Amino acid sequence: MNDEESEVNQMKHRKRYLATFVLIAVLALTLAGCSGEPNLTTLQPKGSAAEISLDLITLSAYIMFGVMGVVFLIFAYVMIRFRKRKNDDSIPKQVEGSTVLEVVWTVIPIALLIILAIPTVMHTFALSGHLDDEDAINVKVIAHQFWWEFEYPDLGIVTAQDLFIPVGKTINVELTSNDVIHSFWVPNLTGKIDTNPGYVSKEGKQNVNTFWFDAKEEGVYLGKCAELCGSSHALMEFKVIAVSEEKFANWVASMTAPKTSPTTELAQQGEEIFAKNCMMCHAIDNVAGRLGPNLNGVGNRATVAGILPANTTEELKENLAKWIKNPQDVKPGNTMPAFANLLSDAEVDALVEYLSTLQVER
Ligand code: CUA
Repeated sequence: MNDEESEVNQMKHRKRYLATFVLIAVLALTLAGCSGEPNLTTLQPKGSAAEISLDLITLSAYIMFGVMGVVFLIFAYVMIRFRKRKNDDSIPKQVEGSTVLEVVWTVIPIALLIILAIPTVMHTFALSGHLDDEDAINVKVIAHQFWWEFEYPDLGIVTAQDLFIPVGKTINVELTSNDVIHSFWVPNLTGKIDTNPGYVSKEGKQNVNTFWFDAKEEGVYLGKCAELCGSSHALMEFKVIAVSEEKFANWVASMTAPKTSPTTELAQQGEEIFAKNCMMCHAIDNVAGRLGPNLNGVGNRATVAGILPANTTEELKENLAKWIKNPQDVKPGNTMPAFANLLSDAEVDALVEYLSTLQVER
């Protein structure tokens, strides 16, 4: 090999090292993204349904790694044991067909599949439908492009975006959709379950999915729509807020208490503007079936429009105004009109002031 050739070879080597390094760096960065959001992982279950799901994930992972391990071991053994040796040009023993081997590699996968299938089928049935529990809280989930409506038929409550539940109680859920197929998913608490739109039979029966879940610890759990449903699918978030039974009772009382008018002049102006411009689509009491989200308690929800932060009053007001003026900038494809063209800035300010007074105990 002359000098020129060896230099070319060295360059090739360096390029290959560089490519490997870049690949590893990109993979590391991608994986680093996995640890970001708190309470958005199936690997830290905070409820019974999520625990059952994790058990299944663990079982299938053990089986998978077991199979991989055995295959890699046999592979490595064969590679070393039967490698081509120096000065050995003989042809190895030719083997054609082995009944024993064929039976072994047919029976083992079937056995593994059965081991996986039995708990999968059992748990699938156990997790779907409602639990027969007198204390259970019934919730109807109605998905919309791109927000979530929550109805508590036994408590006379309708709300949106924040699903309040008491810790330790069974939540029996009924799911439908108002438009396209969405999927309800709270990684720490539930598996994914579709919400189906459509057909209502003469008996009033709709294509309804049912399931149950619970939360074992107080906390705020992030929920996501898990079915591509339009341009703002990725922004169709919600929160499950698990609180003590006492706090839950206070929330229920506060949500169902008669509404009082605001005390400041600005907020009173806002109330009038709301009545003229917003009432067609939004309710502030527990009325279901309006076009837009129910705004009962919108003054202290976890977010504005399910996606903009509302951690302080200032942030809430800023983001409410942003949303009201140009909702398409926040969630493209939603049905809310842009009020930047319909209301003056002063009117939006009054409206925002009024909305921020619509608070409930939580
Ligand atoms: Cu709703 Cu994706």
